[in-house]
Amino acid sequence: MVDLLVKNGKVVFPDCTIEADIAVENGKIVAIGLRGSMPRAEETIDARGKYVLPGGIDPHTHIANPFMGKSPDEDFFIATKATAKGGTTTIIDFAIQKKGKTPMQEVLDRRAVADDKVVIDYSLHPCVTNPTPENLGQLKELIDYGLPSFKLFLVYRKEGLMVDDGALMKVFELTKAYGGLVGLHAENVGMIEYLIDEALKKGNTSAIYHALTRPPITEAEAVNKAIYLANYYNAPYYNFHLSIKKGVDLCRKARNTGRPIYAETCTHYLVNTIDDLRRENGINFICTPPLRTKEDQNALWEGLADGSLSLVSSDHCYFTSEQKKTGKESFDKVPNGMPGHEFRMPILFSEGVVKGRISVNRFSEITSTNAAKIFGIYPQKGIIRVGSDADIVIIDPKLEKKISAEDSLYGMDWCPAEGLNVKGWPVVTISKGKVIWDGGFRGKAGEGKFLKRVLDPELFKYPIA
Ligand code: URP
Ligand code: ZN
Ligand code: ZN
Repeated sequence: MVDLLVKNGKVVFPDCTIEADIAVENGKIVAIGLRGSMPRAEETIDARGKYVLPGGIDPHTHIANPFMGKSPDEDFFIATKATAKGGTTTIIDFAIQKKGKTPMQEVLDRRAVADDKVVIDYSLHPCVTNPTPENLGQLKELIDYGLPSFKLFLVYRKEGLMVDDGALMKVFELTKAYGGLVGLHAENVGMIEYLIDEALKKGNTSAIYHALTRPPITEAEAVNKAIYLANYYNAPYYNFHLSIKKGVDLCRKARNTGRPIYAETCTHYLVNTIDDLRRENGINFICTPPLRTKEDQNALWEGLADGSLSLVSSDHCYFTSEQKKTGKESFDKVPNGMPGHEFRMPILFSEGVVKGRISVNRFSEITSTNAAKIFGIYPQKGIIRVGSDADIVIIDPKLEKKISAEDSLYGMDWCPAEGLNVKGWPVVTISKGKVIWDGGFRGKAGEGKFLKRVLDPELFKYPIA
């Protein structure tokens, strides 16, 4: 007798999809076998006609993270509950160093607000914003603590988050020495500040100017520099929220020479465009890098399909319409970011698999497996395999309904993909063997655990994801 049996589903493995049953005990997958060959279970889920996939891993969320003077109206409980409903069973959020704290203190403070609240497993990327020798001296400690991936901001100077190129070199040197992964918010701050000043001088303050003052060159230059530096240090590199065609080309070229260069794009770049900034509620769509053209969007899809990009994150950073309105006089005052973790998996399935842009196996890689490999939690997470955590999502490929903010678990008051018709929704989410979503929430605050991650040394040699 095992704890749980997921039977009759189309189980998605990296190279194939097979109708099989999965047995789960003590939170782990203990057997995968052909129909009828499994032991009896305390609880059985019939997944006939549905896909059974590794639970989603979203390596880029900003839950309850104050930014540009506003604090999102959420906490780790409500947010991870919504994440679970959307088929994601692990998130990697951020510990963005605040003034007067060390990066390690920031991690501990983030854990203090998250540990008791999370309903799914989680980890953090430390972000060093004050690269003093003392703070950079903590990189090794952070890696040893289980947080080996970092995000540095090359922008947000006024917000106090930016680091300069000298600090970037130092971080590459240290992470190379200790075995960490540098990730960047790659945009050119000088170009952007110049363009914003010019726009404001001319009285160009509407939302569209957010994108027009961050044209593709401002991102391409920074992505190019980052890849160049990674090559110089013979180090791996992770590009957060890539949004442009030129960036896909740069990653493709680097990966084709065998370099371990990894990039994510985000759900909104795959379904929203620069035109959303021209809408009446255009300020809601202000995120950084900005929404781009259809041509960029097509290139991102191509990059995901051909392996130039490794995965899709949500960059969930939720501000209500009211909070966004702080910046209604001028685009540069609007808190940056859009909500997205709850709808990442269904949007990707519908726009990717159902529309024939990617296979269901590639879907599984870019929503789960590759994040697990890159960030050091594979094969504990990111795959359906005997011995792995029983983090499983069941997707009903026939279920069809439109995205609506009203359906979001914490009642967002707006949603970037509002009205998008989605075919293929997560219907059951299992976290470490426990059903936490099956149309209703069955999890508990604090059942998620803080994950200590260890990078795979292969990550440093050639592109493994
Ligand atoms: O606009 C965005 N992306 N907000 C979140 C902060 C960041 O840069 O990821
Ligand atoms: Zn960023
Ligand atoms: Zn972000």
